Amino acid sequence: MDIAETSQTLREMMRNAPRPCVLVPTMGSLHLGHVALIQRARQAAGPSGTVIVSIFVNPIQFDRPADLLAYPRPLAADLAQCEAAGVDLVFTPTAESMYFPNRSVTVTESSLSLGLCGATRPGHFDGVCTVVLKLFLLTGCEAAVFGEKDFQQLAIIHRMVRDLDVPVEIIASPTVREPDGLALSSRNVRLSPEQRADAPRLQAALLAGAKQATAGQVLQVARQLIEASPLTRIDYLTLVDAVTLQETENLDRPAILATAVFYGEVRLIDHVKLGKR
Ligand code: PAJ
Repeated sequence: MDIAETSQTLREMMRNAPRPCVLVPTMGSLHLGHVALIQRARQAAGPSGTVIVSIFVNPIQFDRPADLLAYPRPLAADLAQCEAAGVDLVFTPTAESMYFPNRSVTVTESSLSLGLCGATRPGHFDGVCTVVLKLFLLTGCEAAVFGEKDFQQLAIIHRMVRDLDVPVEIIASPTVREPDGLALSSRNVRLSPEQRADAPRLQAALLAGAKQATAGQVLQVARQLIEASPLTRIDYLTLVDAVTLQETENLDRPAILATAVFYGEVRLIDHVKLGKR
């Protein structure tokens, strides 16, 4: 496995890399959810293609400085995971090597990013789009794998690629969960034992809500079950159309019941799909 720390080294390595090249963009602190993405990337690249993982805690997508500072950065363990998972190349740039101090061009998505996580995290998805486009250009990858866990991010990346004619195939990979239902997340290690024991309620509440007959009942049941915990504070709980990501009451079309919840300072997201397909 090779490691590139600057974009120049990366470009040189990519010039000779066997094609196709499939990229898995991450912010590190890798867990089995990321490993599933790497396996999906290998499947797409084939045994002789190149699987590249980027590990970069992207400062311009964090709206809260405390969250950026607290983000775990276990680089040695991450590299060992990549090696074990059969990754060919890991790109680990610094913020200084990715961004000019006077950078002034940003990619902005102005529809899908307005609600859900975008409503309470101003600039977050601009930061995501900008770094992802840079990673696509730096690696010259033909395809990239993203997790369905961050379904809003996935929808926005699809839209960016469509609207800007970016020649990269976007591959979606299903959410990986703990046996108790909690979606794997790099933030889970920041939960106290009490919060960790409580957190599976998110998925349970969404699943119970999704069984209801009307949109009003869906939201009411899910809200009651989340709010039954004294440890949680709801950031949002909403039912959106699966295509437009606009709030909906229509269960005759594919919809998504999504939530973001704070456990203390730690913000977790989860969702379930519902509605007619
Ligand atoms: P990060 O949170 O590290 O996630 C990297 C990728 O792993 C994303 O595509 C995310 O959806 C996926 N992922 C995370 N947890 C998962 C799980 N439990 N199951 C399946 N996939 C999971 O998302 C980012 O980083 C950043 O915004 C990034 C795209 C790298 C841009 O900086």
